[in-house]
Amino acid sequence: MSRIKKSAKRRRVKPRASAKPFLIKNKFIPRGRIILAGDKSIAHRALILSALTCGRTNLKNFPLHEDSLATLNALITLGVRIRRNGSEVLIYGRGKQGLKACANPVFTHNSGTTLRLLLGVLAGMNFKTKVTAAQALSRRPMSRVTVPLRLMGVQISARIKNKEEYAPMVIRGGNLRGIVYRPKVASAQVKSAVLLAGLFAQGKTQVCERVSTRDHTERMLKNFGANISVNNNRVILDPVRCLRSPGQIYIPGDISSAAFFIVLASIIPGARIVIERAGLNPGRTGIIKVLKRMGAKINIALCRGAADGEPMGQLIAQSSRLNGTVVSAQEIPSLIDELPVLMVAACFAEGATVIKGVAELRVKETDRINSMLVNLKAMGADIRVNKAGRQENLVINCRDRLYGASLKSFGDHRTAMSMVVAAMAADGESRLDDINCINKSFPGFLRTLQGLK
Ligand code: S3P
Repeated sequence: MSRIKKSAKRRRVKPRASAKPFLIKNKFIPRGRIILAGDKSIAHRALILSALTCGRTNLKNFPLHEDSLATLNALITLGVRIRRNGSEVLIYGRGKQGLKACANPVFTHNSGTTLRLLLGVLAGMNFKTKVTAAQALSRRPMSRVTVPLRLMGVQISARIKNKEEYAPMVIRGGNLRGIVYRPKVASAQVKSAVLLAGLFAQGKTQVCERVSTRDHTERMLKNFGANISVNNNRVILDPVRCLRSPGQIYIPGDISSAAFFIVLASIIPGARIVIERAGLNPGRTGIIKVLKRMGAKINIALCRGAADGEPMGQLIAQSSRLNGTVVSAQEIPSLIDELPVLMVAACFAEGATVIKGVAELRVKETDRINSMLVNLKAMGADIRVNKAGRQENLVINCRDRLYGASLKSFGDHRTAMSMVVAAMAADGESRLDDINCINKSFPGFLRTLQGLK
């Protein structure tokens, strides 16, 4: 009988508890149907905008993982009343100026989106707030957000090291002016922080992107009645007197969580996984586009009518013969979080896969170029990184098969889940040193996987 189990113990797999390595052996052919918790990016935005409206907003299919709870708790610290009943969250907003100054720092845990988006909101508040983060997030660069916010008139003092800014930081907002901003990095977090601040500014705020990034903030702002338009990668926002709650928002299943199962189904012979009500925002479906180009059999059935401004639908992924491909730097923002699991897929693709412009992976929860190279090489993969100036490109050659190995999560949820997928398709057993980090975005990952037996 096939099974996945935690080494030594026979109890049910719970991602929370283990200091022992997680053992992946006697793999099975995953088949079945899953529904995933709501999209993390949409959840952060839904919480934040609901907090800035007058009245109650009901969020359905809210994901109960560490990152979205970090935003929820940060808003509670800022005086917002929030009630939770299972995966339903009720937010009682008190308007755009309804957040309260707090004596305690606002702690953003390890959630980069929480920290960067919240800075955009605090930019509009006429009081001083100290914002802190857990160790790993305190090592991630923040100048990309502090620079445009200062241009809008915000006062921020942050920890500085080698000319880069990091949490903790103190921010005092108010009296903002709209700006035209061209971000240096393709980042939806930067765009969103500037747009959120733009809600409070005098005059229009414009963000002009060289490469477009996920547009959840724009869609959500529209859904909350803001005057926002998008033209050729230029987003224009007028300040608003008040936002209007849509009353209820269904958060579609997280496409980034779905990606692990899409790749799993694609690389294991005989596998077939149906994913219901997955978010299909075109700014996020790069992984599907690229896998299909590689030959993956993925069927998409869009639900009629988007869920509250976000497209949603059914995905069916089945075992396929994959071929190598070239992923351009322009495609990266649409699959930035899926690159680790795409690297796994590329190991099983005939010929070479080249993924261009991946340097941004160095500043995610861990350096994901390093974490994935270390692990995949340990499994026998032929993967290398080429530097071309500041650009970094990955080259992955097919090795027919991967072999079980001792694997490391590097404290990173997406590295950990990608390596579970790789281990499921590899010959022999693998051990993963830490699975607790998976709780950051997908506490039900192993349970969902086991349900496909
Ligand atoms: C996110 C944007 C991406 C992504 C992150 C979530 C968002 O970051 O990697 O997991 O919700 O806006 P960048 O926009 O900084 O690339």
